[in-house]
Amino acid sequence: MSSGYPRQRVQRILSVVGARPNFMKLAPLSRALHKRAAVEHAVIHTGQHYAPELSESIFRDLDLAAPDTNLEVGSGSHAEQTAAIMTRLEPLLVARRPDVVLVYGDVNSTLAAALVAAKLGVPVAHVEAGLRSHDWSMPEEINRVVTDRLASLLLTPSRDATANLLAEGLRPDRIHFVGNIMIDTLLTVLPAATACNAPERYGVHPGRFLVATLHRPSNVDAPDRLRELMEVLTTVSNDLPVLFPAHPRTAAQLQAWHGRFSRGVHVLGAIPYIEMVSLVAQAAVVVTDSGGLQEETTYLGVPCVTVRPNTERPITCAEGTNRLAQTGGAVLDAVHSALAERRNGVRSIERWDGCSAERIASVLCDGARYS
Ligand code: UD1
Repeated sequence: MSSGYPRQRVQRILSVVGARPNFMKLAPLSRALHKRAAVEHAVIHTGQHYAPELSESIFRDLDLAAPDTNLEVGSGSHAEQTAAIMTRLEPLLVARRPDVVLVYGDVNSTLAAALVAAKLGVPVAHVEAGLRSHDWSMPEEINRVVTDRLASLLLTPSRDATANLLAEGLRPDRIHFVGNIMIDTLLTVLPAATACNAPERYGVHPGRFLVATLHRPSNVDAPDRLRELMEVLTTVSNDLPVLFPAHPRTAAQLQAWHGRFSRGVHVLGAIPYIEMVSLVAQAAVVVTDSGGLQEETTYLGVPCVTVRPNTERPITCAEGTNRLAQTGGAVLDAVHSALAERRNGVRSIERWDGCSAERIASVLCDGARYS
């Protein structure tokens, strides 16, 4: 039985990206593929994220060329957004007929592109395959599971992700443990992040401030829930300044309250990625519901409190600096325990080494295997 991935030389690769975390995974792979003279790599942006601070700014910070095409789907319900991406992408895939379509992470653009490609018989490679929260109330979990089922190549960031795929009965010859490509990006921007010294720019002292980000619907869409979390941050801000770069979704909710709950908490717009890394690297503690930040803090050895009942990235708790907390009281306790801990410096996790993009390029183009 074939793995579904072409045995002949792969030359025409098409990446489909749509949201901020996708762009971070695309950047190092784009560079690795660019080095291969025989490979033609095109990029389609679905337009899921369209605000300049979530899209153009990231492309600029990561030195990414502008996408070849932008489908400009914008926001909508899950069905509207997924359907719009599918309808606009299909004719492009029919016209281009790439050898493989690359999809990244777990956003709606990932699932939509995987569905279109698989139904056209174009092999799909999934970067960041195998992560599982086992929480079906998260749209991302549905996107992950379905995308992995459709993919011919499953490129995993950690051994637990490989184990999840094997437990679901997916074929071992489709799975490659290539490591965490987010760390490739982090390592690329770290020198610029260190040089930009964002704490000074935001008026805080290195090691003596908290960075918070919240954007999951479960934390920000219900006013009572967001209020509970903002009250925790306000309490912490009596001892430690809190910088809160807000996603547009969160900013809209906070604006509705006219800043009533942000006393002592500095609510900022979405900030450039390099500045964000600079802040995170020097924070006393990070409070977040983002997936990428759980990984970045682990790599940097910065304590992290993840405001969720579960994580698809358990390695960040088992081997890193992450802890989970759900209720306001538990978040406050977790912040205090994190602050009492000594920082341990950079954590070493298997294949979180800045070489994941090169591994993926060699799987895609040279038939390399990483088990
Ligand atoms: C999406 C991903 C989430 C990821 C996050 C990273 C899905 C289901 N969710 O969530 O997994 O962690 O990106 O940021 O794909 N909006 C703007 N400007 C934009 C984009 C969105 O204002 O450029 C606002 C709109 O009100 C929109 C809302 O944010 O309705 C949500 O946007 P959407 O792309 O649907 O999901 P995210 O919350 O960004």
